[in-house]
Amino acid sequence: MAHAPIPRGQPRADGPACVLGIGTAVPPTEFLQTEYPDFFFNITNTSEKEVLKAKFKRICDKSGIRKRHFFLTEEVLKANPGICTYMEPSLNVRQDIVVVQVPKLAAEAAQKAIQEWGGKKSDITHVVFVTTSGVNMPGADHALTKLLGLKPSVKRVMLYQTGCFGGATALRVAKDLAENNKNARVLAVCSEVTAVTYRAPSENHLDGLVGSALFGDGAGVYVVGSDPKPDVEKPLFEVHWAGESILPDSDGAIDGHMTEAGLIFHLMRDVPGLISKNIENLLTEARKCVGSPDWNEMFWAVHPGGPAILDQVEAKLKLSKDKMQGSRDTLSEYGNMSSSSILFVLDQIRNRSVKMGASTLGEGSEFGFFIAFGPGLTLEVLVLRAAANV
Ligand code: CAA
Repeated sequence: MAHAPIPRGQPRADGPACVLGIGTAVPPTEFLQTEYPDFFFNITNTSEKEVLKAKFKRICDKSGIRKRHFFLTEEVLKANPGICTYMEPSLNVRQDIVVVQVPKLAAEAAQKAIQEWGGKKSDITHVVFVTTSGVNMPGADHALTKLLGLKPSVKRVMLYQTGCFGGATALRVAKDLAENNKNARVLAVCSEVTAVTYRAPSENHLDGLVGSALFGDGAGVYVVGSDPKPDVEKPLFEVHWAGESILPDSDGAIDGHMTEAGLIFHLMRDVPGLISKNIENLLTEARKCVGSPDWNEMFWAVHPGGPAILDQVEAKLKLSKDKMQGSRDTLSEYGNMSSSSILFVLDQIRNRSVKMGASTLGEGSEFGFFIAFGPGLTLEVLVLRAAANV
């Protein structure tokens, strides 16, 4: 039986979703990468493993990282020795930390994003929260809603265990919510605290050593909404396209398993090769929506998973050296903060654009990519349009 159409109860927005405010936060304690091998092997009581320590030092030296920030200070680690072992049951204590610290760090970043946006907390209609740091009921989205004092009717989406591609997922879901609900103002939130993955080094888990050299803590939050209010809201970036793909022949390249000893990560040696080999197809499809500009005419926000990934993508697409600067600066100053990293990268790009007096917030380019990857191997890509730098 055919029904007569009824008006949509929830009218759609007219224009594309825009990023209206950006906030980031990291724990206050920073660790210099040059000093980290000594600290890490001392605190995990493994200093006698000299060969392993020398290898770890080589990885740290090549990591492209100057410093990282951790909630797990010497004091916290000494108080929780289970975290400093390789495989002892320690999930309870890890969970106790992340359940509190993940929403707390997110709230700090959210306050900054809301301040830049300039709206009222009561105008936030949706929260999309991504983290791979622990799980809980009710989730980190609920805790954040309480910490910020958002209205109880805020509509929440909680995404646990996406790994690093989750930063792009948060923006993709926020885009769909903003465009499908007139006047929606969405908090897209990523927050990661390494207490869930931290562990002692082991000769049997060399890819774990790579994770210990790269991962850091951080939270990033965007306020996302369509049809910005003139003279009140200032769009920074428009979101024009979003896509996701599982890369061929990449099963097991990045995966993580929650165990009694916390989250165990596995990284295959060829993660950079798999990404650089397959990235062109999805990007070629993505850039069609904005007239297929040359790669070097666009700006590039790429998840700083590790320097080899940035180097190989840069070489494959013949990008000029400055295109990955936002990703390299993020990696240098914060490490790989899993899902949160890509939110920091776009912030670095717009700050660099302002600093160098570029014509747009995309370092002078109109269009750019927002790219994250993670377990699957999954690649998520969004196409953004930068606002003029005025
Ligand atoms: N597993 C085990 N060992 C590894 C390794 C891996 N995946 N990658 C590198 N190594 C070892 C090498 O064998 C080498 O050991 P030796 O010094 O004893 O020979 C050592 O690390 C240094 O490697 P290289 O000399 O080849 O130096 P490099 O220039 O390649 O730098 C690196 C090392 C910084 C780790 C670099 O290879 C890199 O950036 N790799 C990519 C790391 C990666 O996979 N990142 C993704 C993280 S996951 C993510 O971001 C998403 C998520 O969902 C969490």
